[in-house]
Parts: sequence; structure tokens; C-alpha cells
Amino acid sequence: MKELLKGKFIVLDGPDGCGKSTQSKLLRKWAQDNQVETVSFRDPGTTVIGEKIRDILLDPAHKEMNTRCELLLYMAARAQLYSESIAPALNQGKCVILDRWLSSTCAYQGCAGGFGIQKVVKLALDSLERAWPDITIILDIDLEDAKPRLSANLDRMEQKSKDYHEKVRQGFLELAKEMESFKVVDAADDIDTVHENVMNHIKAALG
Ligand code: TMP
Repeated sequence: MKELLKGKFIVLDGPDGCGKSTQSKLLRKWAQDNQVETVSFRDPGTTVIGEKIRDILLDPAHKEMNTRCELLLYMAARAQLYSESIAPALNQGKCVILDRWLSSTCAYQGCAGGFGIQKVVKLALDSLERAWPDITIILDIDLEDAKPRLSANLDRMEQKSKDYHEKVRQGFLELAKEMESFKVVDAADDIDTVHENVMNHIKAALG
């Protein structure tokens, strides 16, 4: 298991309220229990620059922000996150677990925002040092099931319409169909079952 997780770049992604933060903590514990040095980061965020960009992106006061501006800010935060935090950790052989990544930009700005998934990927390939992780787990969840998991104070992205969030979910599923390194897990199950399914996919894909 140690060799399997060493230096691996693992992403957990999905619609708002899918439970990726909880699953990311469980995954990190599992890796550490297997004696693998592990770090977890969030995208957008983690770096000083990324956290500032995150504040701009999620501030509900910024109602006028358009999809292209969102897209470029998410990509900018990610470019910094990769060079400042992810690459050094991978180079040291650590297992890197990410809360969200490029898959989110494809689903939110690409699909729901209408920019186009393929155009997002093209931009990412041109602007990031590394676009795709070793494995991406999509925690799939129905909007109604996700609602109770959201905090009372919705951020600017969470405040977008039901229709937008339905498209986000479809965007993730569409992408997962095209990408061999993507695995979909039903996130409506209880926490332990979801964790087990996540681990099984990782063992199968990286083993
Ligand atoms: P988080 O609260 O799950 O960390 O994510 C922040 C919000 O930003 C969430 O609503 C998803 C959204 N988002 C995008 O729209 N595009 C992106 O590229 C990323 C990474 C997140």
C-alpha cells in the first residue's frame, strides 16, 4: 500500500454538499495509517495568493462576476497552488490529496457556466504545469440530498440557481465518462460506505 500511494496525486471532487472534505480527511488518515506521508490541500486556496483569490471568487457581494473572470481566477489560484505546494510535496514522495481541481472548472464554468468543457481543458493544458491528477474521484450526489449538508451562509457559487447546480452535476458525470482516470462514487451512501468505495477505487486504479 505504501508504494501504491507514494507520490500520488489524488483529487476528490463533486457538487456542493457532496461530502468531499469529510472523505478527504478519512482518506488522509488511511494513507497515514499505511505509513505514507500525506498532505491535503484545497483548490481554490491553500497558498496566501490562492486564499485571497478564493475570497474574491466566493464573496456574495461580487454578483457581477462573469464566467470568464471566474474561470481565469480559478485557474490562476491553481497555477500557484501547483508550483508552491503540490509539486514540492510530490517531489518528496508524499501523497497529495486535493479538495477539488480542474474537474470543478470543467463542471462549473465549462458546463454550467456555458464556456465549454473542452475549451476549459485546452486552457488548462496551456496554463498549468500539470492538468490531470493520477486519479479523480467524483462524489456524485442529487441536489436534494446535498442541500442539508450545506452551511446556512451560502457563498457566491452556492447561491447560483438550481438549474446551474443540476448542470454542474451533469458536467462532472459527462467528464467522468470521457476520462479513464475518473471514478464515480455514490455520495448519498453513509460516510463509511463512501470511504470504502473511495479506497477500493484507489487501490484498483493505482495498484
Ligand atoms: P469549496 O467550498 O468546495 O472549496 O469550493 C468553492 C466553490 O467554488 C464551490 O462552489 C465550487 C466552486 N468552484 C468552481 O466553480 N470552479 C472551480 O474551478 C473550483 C475549484 C471550484
